[in-house]
Amino acid sequence: MSCCFAHPQTIHRLDDLVQPPMNSENKEKFDFSTVGAPVSEPHPQSEPLPLKEIPALEGSVAWEAPSNIALIKYWGKYGQQMPANPSISFSLKACVSQTKVHFKPQSGGGVRFSLSGQQNLGFQTRIENFLNSVELRYPWLKEFALDIESTNSFPHSSGIASSASGFAALALCVEHIDQNVRLTAEQGPAAHHPEPTAYRADARFLNRASHLARLGSGSACRSVYGGWVQWGMHPATPESRNEYAIAHQSAIHPVFTDYRDTILLIHKAVKQTGSTAGHKLMEGNPYADARYRQANERIPRLLSILASGDLTEFGLLVESEALTLHALMMASDPSFMLMMPNTLAAIREIQAFRKQTGLPVHYTLDAGANLHLLYPAQHETEVMSLINNSLMHYCENQAYICDSVGTGPRPINPFV
Ligand code: DP6
Repeated sequence: MSCCFAHPQTIHRLDDLVQPPMNSENKEKFDFSTVGAPVSEPHPQSEPLPLKEIPALEGSVAWEAPSNIALIKYWGKYGQQMPANPSISFSLKACVSQTKVHFKPQSGGGVRFSLSGQQNLGFQTRIENFLNSVELRYPWLKEFALDIESTNSFPHSSGIASSASGFAALALCVEHIDQNVRLTAEQGPAAHHPEPTAYRADARFLNRASHLARLGSGSACRSVYGGWVQWGMHPATPESRNEYAIAHQSAIHPVFTDYRDTILLIHKAVKQTGSTAGHKLMEGNPYADARYRQANERIPRLLSILASGDLTEFGLLVESEALTLHALMMASDPSFMLMMPNTLAAIREIQAFRKQTGLPVHYTLDAGANLHLLYPAQHETEVMSLINNSLMHYCENQAYICDSVGTGPRPINPFV
């Protein structure tokens, strides 16, 4: 695995067609009060089992799911976690969450959640609310107690959100249990497979897991696939949906199949404004309509860059996306700023390096101060020199994480 840390001691195991732009005609649809309410939208799965058919089962499933980095950003949502514009990301290889769910019969259900071996009541409440919102679809949630144990490969408080990888891993576990319950109900106890690898993660399974992950955290729906992933409807990809993400397996130029992403950990503190609050502020943002139009225009542009391997065009597009995201934050009311002085200083260094060497090294930003340095695998040596000689001095504790495009989630058996 291509993963290196500047300071290993700081890194430990832990924790309609196109969606119409929001405008004055359709903005009444954007009702955030429905988030967390019971979910009723169409779902890529068969009908939920009637409660009386739920078999009394006990077992464990475990999945690993990656974090992802968006190149065309999701920023703004409506209704039940619907994206205001389509987004495209790639899944990471090194930054992953591993989640194990032990289930056993218990009338009324119940959830216990621990992160890195310690019960975490904050996350437990968020997960309980999430699972309560989908219990009509998964009625066995009221019949089983779930003990959920999760760990992250990246450090806690690194500024890297664990919600995408965490909710993706949990959604895969829930879908896995759902398969198990259905199969046992249909075929009797002999069909009960406690081994996670007894299940094939086919397209329908992944679509359903993506749909479920989205309800926990929007960007999580992209983390149930490997490689390049799109979430949100766009006519350029007729199979795309707002309800779940899809993987782009074909028409990806070889240079982009193992693209590097070195994450410069500029600032690790908890953000002053989280993503969910940031999305909400897009409701009143005067530039929202133009932004949603722009993101829709950029989808086919990025798809054609991914097919052609044009790295100059790639850099222009992804850096503009990163700066647009942060400009939208600054233009919100109230305004907020997540970049730090060292973010800007590092950006200047990257620009100077590019000018001097002509190498295709670009950056993108998440909703935080950390920089994702994006470059082709063949330039790893030169870029690592830049990082070790210069850029790591802008990072807190000189820490960074070496990552790249990953192949997506996997069932874990046995759970480690
Ligand atoms: C800037 O998925 O974290 O990373 O749906 O409220 O959980 P919620 O938000 P979240 O937002 C991610 C925003 C982003 C861009 C992106 O990943 O597309």
